[in-house]
Amino acid sequence: MKELRSSMKIEIHILMLEDSEADAELVAHSLRKGGMIFTSERAETRVEYIRALERAPPDLILSDYSLPSFDGCTALAIAQAKCPGAPFIFVTGTLGEEVAIETLKQGATDYVLKHRLSRLVPSVQRALREAEERRERRHAEEQLRQSHEQLRALSVYLQHVREEERIHIAREVHDELGQALTGLKLQLAWLCGRLPKDLKALHEKTRNMSVGIDETIQTVRRIATELRPGVLDSAGLIAALEWQAQQFEKQTGIRCRVKPAVRETLWDQDLNTAFFRIFQETLTNVIRHARATKVEVRFAEMGGFLILVVKDNGRGISDEEIHNTKSIGLLGMRERAALMGGEVRLHGEPGKGTTVTVRIPRPAKNPSREKWKWNENENSFNRRPRRRAPGAETDPR
Ligand SMILES: Nc1ncnc2c1ncn2[C@@H]1O[C@H](COP(=O)(O)OP(=O)(O)OP(=O)(O)O)[C@@H](O)[C@H]1O
Ligand SMILES: [Mg+2]
Repeated sequence: MKELRSSMKIEIHILMLEDSEADAELVAHSLRKGGMIFTSERAETRVEYIRALERAPPDLILSDYSLPSFDGCTALAIAQAKCPGAPFIFVTGTLGEEVAIETLKQGATDYVLKHRLSRLVPSVQRALREAEERRERRHAEEQLRQSHEQLRALSVYLQHVREEERIHIAREVHDELGQALTGLKLQLAWLCGRLPKDLKALHEKTRNMSVGIDETIQTVRRIATELRPGVLDSAGLIAALEWQAQQFEKQTGIRCRVKPAVRETLWDQDLNTAFFRIFQETLTNVIRHARATKVEVRFAEMGGFLILVVKDNGRGISDEEIHNTKSIGLLGMRERAALMGGEVRLHGEPGKGTTVTVRIPRPAKNPSREKWKWNENENSFNRRPRRRAPGAETDPR
């Protein structure tokens, strides 16, 4: 407010639309007497008015309502189009109540009658204060919008980097550790074959070591798969959903069926990741919160959208739980879908279950998201070959 008040002491530029020079002088005199510091310009005709608006956009417009060659309402409409932020006050000889109300409805800031010019300064000061507040609000909103956009871009980037890193670590763990362990196992078998038969304790020891190595190989595979299931990159989204459902069923004993209505294999990596991670979070929530015995999963395409529906028969999520802004898991699901231009909807029926619906627009058949790489041998861009997923024997494409 302090700033606003101080800004009112700054010189402002006023455009007066007034055919009478004497009246314009009177208005200027009232303003000066009220302590206002300003420069002013007077226009009489439409042409002069538009030229003045374009040459030096005013901080305030004071307009007569009835002019010989022009009318106040048109002047107001022109001001709204050319200088939407500037307050517009009618200063006029007569103005019926109905007309006055109509001008305010059309967006005039105020009206002051010429025989009551004592109202002019307070009216102008209020109008300038409100205009300043509007400007500040618009500025704050714009900054908020920009920082929201930046956060979203950062979020896209972080999700992407995280997934790339998972793919990288999964491959390193699977290939490097897996190969090293297999090598160890072969060497152990070689050693065992050369041990004298009567050294039973040593044979027993090597057998135990071999079992230990096998178990470690299994653990390495599990860790690699949990980081990024190979099936997602080697066999596509639907196969990955089916695989995840089987794992879920094995771990929990909760029946989980996937009914895909999309036959085609989908390859867009970002899209696959989004659906797959949302699906994983949904199943984790079923284990942790639903008390369900059955989960049905549908995957379909409708109206340009790919739609994943996960329905459990548990206790049913409540409306408060759905709208709780502190639910990080649900927030993450919504954010993932939003980053792909989609959305997540939840619906719960007490005692009957929870339905999670994920809708994401299907990318174009020839997606611009495809990753291209400069091929030095061919001197051209080629699509980057898809990563071989950990454990994938062949690439089906
Ligand atoms: N399938 C479900 N059935 C019943 N309630 C659910 C279900 N899914 C989620 N909820 C409710 O919604 C809440 C929010 O879920 P959300 O995934 O955001 O959090 P969380 O699972 O508790 O914690 P985390 O942040 O680790 O995921 C849960 O705490 C639970 O009360
Ligand atoms: Mg959760």
